[in-house]
Amino acid sequence: RNSLIYVNGTFTEQPTIDVEERGFQFGDGIYEVVAVKAGRLLFTRDHFNRLENSCAALRIQHGFTYQTFEKAMNELVEKTHCENGMVYIQVTRGTASRNHAFPSPTTVGCCYAYTMSNASSAHALQEGKAITLADIRWLRCDIKSLNLLGSVLAKQEASESGADEAILHREGIVTEGSSTNVFVVNDGILYTHPANHLILNGITRQYVIKLAKEAGHQVVEEPFSIQFLEQADEVFITSTTQRIRPITTLNAKKLTDAPGSLTSKLQQALQATIL
Ligand code: PDD
Repeated sequence: RNSLIYVNGTFTEQPTIDVEERGFQFGDGIYEVVAVKAGRLLFTRDHFNRLENSCAALRIQHGFTYQTFEKAMNELVEKTHCENGMVYIQVTRGTASRNHAFPSPTTVGCCYAYTMSNASSAHALQEGKAITLADIRWLRCDIKSLNLLGSVLAKQEASESGADEAILHREGIVTEGSSTNVFVVNDGILYTHPANHLILNGITRQYVIKLAKEAGHQVVEEPFSIQFLEQADEVFITSTTQRIRPITTLNAKKLTDAPGSLTSKLQQALQATIL
């Protein structure tokens, strides 16, 4: 990561975190990950809208307008010379004497952000391994909360079995990946879980749906089963960091050697537009 950190309107190389910072003690906060390409933030408005929704759901004041947010994040990207990579942004309820209930409304929230640079802009990934696991997370997955233990444990299990992602399910219904959204293709139709409280409505997910519709494909946002996933023509996952990643191996079973045709088409469309 780059060493200059944005903290509540200032830039510092040595930020401090109070032991009673609520993000730190309770995970009482939210975050966003925004991609940077050629020195520009991508989908900034969408990320800001989601940041606002997450904060509103938790009754956290973030103190930004869209204009001040965009200005601050662009300044951070510029000051850290981030050409390609991402910005991590976290907003918490701030620091107060430890008590689960909200502190006094005068408590100032904390926003910090930093950038991570990649050597080059992301390219379209050609393969991906996933395992299926029970979704043990809470019932407000639509909030981009700092509480990520369900995702951490799932990703670790995937990692220990040599996979890149854990595709989660609730009683056999596929929800999403531990840090990605999940799509399957059958007969040219794209299927993905509806954007309700059981998934995070990914910015990449929303853009992929738009691209598929523009290319004349039907998109079905309805719950589907693990069996449907296992028997699909194509499977892919999406996120800001991985873009569109084909799942070519599922539960150690090889599905295909190369990304499917709609997966490739969407990857190309995504690369061609902005990513
Ligand atoms: N993860 N679902 C979950 C549970 C996620 O954590 C993410 C993003 C997504 C994809 O959302 P988007 O397309 O807006 O990145 C879906 C981020 C990248 C992370 O935790 O690093």
